[in-house]
Amino acid sequence: MELDGVIRDLREDPHRQREFYEYPELYEFFQSRVVDRDAQVGLLERFEPADTERVLEFGCGAGPLLARIDGEYDEVVGVDANPDLLEMAERRVSTATLVEADFTDWSAADEGQTFDAAALMGGLLHLTDDGALDAFAVNAYESLRPGGAFVTFFEPLSEAVDNGSRELHTVESDRYTVERHATSAITSPSGHYTTTYLFVITDEARDEEARMGTVFHGRFFAAGRLREAFADAGFETTEIHEGAGPTVFHARR
Ligand SMILES: C[S@@+](CC[C@H](N)C(=O)[O-])C[C@H]1O[C@@H](n2cnc3c(N)ncnc32)[C@H](O)[C@@H]1O
Repeated sequence: MELDGVIRDLREDPHRQREFYEYPELYEFFQSRVVDRDAQVGLLERFEPADTERVLEFGCGAGPLLARIDGEYDEVVGVDANPDLLEMAERRVSTATLVEADFTDWSAADEGQTFDAAALMGGLLHLTDDGALDAFAVNAYESLRPGGAFVTFFEPLSEAVDNGSRELHTVESDRYTVERHATSAITSPSGHYTTTYLFVITDEARDEEARMGTVFHGRFFAAGRLREAFADAGFETTEIHEGAGPTVFHARR
């Protein structure tokens, strides 16, 4: 389905509840224009051990990182819980392996594998249940060989996080414009938040428009909480790197 199909689907049945990742094409259309996915390759290369041959990506989504590193290592595996995003990822890679699994329940060790490097490019915010971060840290640990590296990036829960924000991002191609309106509120002292999104999708070629509202429940983690979860899981070292761009978390088994 392209964006014209998304518009048609929304217009045909406007009142059905929609998930944030409902339409992989819409997600990728938007994200590929606001997120620098080449920087994800740089992040992996910066923290992977020398001579890395086996790379695992948790929360690979529609495969923007996998598509960039496909064939660059002996083995590349992507794990995601969303079958629709994985289907799009499948079309973008030729040698990488895709696994449909919940990364709070699954580790590569379950399948007798370990990796030199593992990454999570933007998925920490999904770990909303208490204990989910700890479970994920254990699975990341078990998925790595001794000395293996884990890397992710995140927005830390800090004084700088406003309780209440409103944002509008507009992206476009020759044919389509997508406006994404987002209103967020913190809903717990431990960093839970709810964002209400409104996507307005315009097809200039057909002079059509459709709207999609959806609600996303996420969580910010304090840097200390993250370090504690990974140290408790057994990681030898944990580091936070602040600089230009998002805050990076790196742990070594
Ligand atoms: C913010 S998206 C990032 C996707 C991709 N890495 C990218 O850069 O576009 C987070 C991804 O994590 C996946 N995810 C969230 N919770 C998960 C879980 N418990 N197990 C497996 N995948 C999960 C979602 O389906 C989504 O694809």
